[in-house]
Amino acid sequence: MSTVIQNSSLFSRNLRKNYPVAVRGEGCWITAADGRRYLDASGQAAVVSIGHGVAEIGRAMAEQSDKIAFAHTSQFHSEPAEKLAARVLALAPKNFQNGGRVYFTSGGSEATETAIKLARQYFLESGEASRYRLVSRKQSYHGSTLGAMSVSGNEGRRAPYAPMIPEWGHVAPCFCYHCPFWKTYPECNLACADDLDAFLRTNDPASVAAFLFEPVVGATLGAAAAVEGYTARIAEICRKHGILLIADEVMSGMGRTGKPFASQHWGLEPDIILTGKGIASGYAPLGAVLVGPRVVEAFEKGTGAFMHGFTYQAHPVSTAAGNAVFDYLEAHKLFDRVLPAGEALRKALSALEAHPHVGQVRGLGLLQAVEFVKDKSTRAPFPKEAGIAEKIRQAALEQNVLTYPSQGTVDGANGDHVLLAPPFTITAQECQLVADALQYALAKVFAA
Ligand SMILES: Cc1ncc(COP(=O)(O)O)c(C=O)c1O
Repeated sequence: MSTVIQNSSLFSRNLRKNYPVAVRGEGCWITAADGRRYLDASGQAAVVSIGHGVAEIGRAMAEQSDKIAFAHTSQFHSEPAEKLAARVLALAPKNFQNGGRVYFTSGGSEATETAIKLARQYFLESGEASRYRLVSRKQSYHGSTLGAMSVSGNEGRRAPYAPMIPEWGHVAPCFCYHCPFWKTYPECNLACADDLDAFLRTNDPASVAAFLFEPVVGATLGAAAAVEGYTARIAEICRKHGILLIADEVMSGMGRTGKPFASQHWGLEPDIILTGKGIASGYAPLGAVLVGPRVVEAFEKGTGAFMHGFTYQAHPVSTAAGNAVFDYLEAHKLFDRVLPAGEALRKALSALEAHPHVGQVRGLGLLQAVEFVKDKSTRAPFPKEAGIAEKIRQAALEQNVLTYPSQGTVDGANGDHVLLAPPFTITAQECQLVADALQYALAKVFAA
């Protein structure tokens, strides 16, 4: 057993691990205290969209802080929060345009918690008090607080807390590369979407309030996007059963997949959208719940008061950071860069596909992943104990490239991938450095 690192006062993510100290960021690069520079192909878990070290964001935050840093939302609204809410809604699917509202949080998990309670209270306001369960999907991640864990289907992250979290029901993911039904698209006729219908028909449907899903599954499956027709079928099933549809776009939202929200790739109009990460590009802790007019109206006609709240919701300095990030995205037309940059990354990564242990390179825009398999013909994964994703991460790190590794891709325990979600400013040369580092990692990890 390796020893616990003694030189830190932080209760770090892993007490046996030595973490470099990040002292500077610039574009796609992070510099550590020892002078080593890392190419940030992970975007620090798909957060950093405009790149590191953009000085005007800090200046905008300081300006807001000089004016007023904090005012409690039970007593005041703030200008930056109002402005950012309007800007985020303007990007959202059409159904949000007429009467949608935004609830700002300090991150994605709080956004999920908020949506869970919002869905519950929506049905109280609507006179359907029996509805409280949120059905979600296996192999998904919606956050680390206990409410968010209850909807998350990521087995590894749920396991230690299983006795503490309710099980409201998890249906099949839409994941063609390892189809849970062993079918092939489109002959499958979207069996994965119909799994929701089958579940709702047989599992106390009168108690279900909403269905929550990631249109592009980020960390858990590795950039696995819904197939054409899936989201429309899901929306139809939710409508039929009278439940809300919630899209978790904490990772896939705010331009990461080439559209403001991934839902827009398929014309999906969810009742609620969760976002976070890229909304302030990591310059401040910020998440958001976009609430569709149907839900807003139920509250307006009902009690008017959401029984929920966080001290730091809609924080003036965080929302000022969000506005400054927005200004930067607009001024540099960075949303428009995502698709071409995504293509450049895919092109660079395509050389990896010839490797016998690269199962698939997939994703949308700048949310991509490389999955590693033991046997390409059967798509069988390596055993969990082989720790392939982590070994690939470490080897890529030797080349100073940061990736986001995950295990459990296939069944929650087995399967390995690395997620790539760099800043939107990544260049073709930098994409090539990422691919070269992964080639090096493949050669090292799978050396005969
Ligand atoms: C899809 C999704 N939802 C929710 C979360 C939780 O967000 P946070 O870590 O900001 O609480 C994440 C984080 O990775 C995520 O990817």
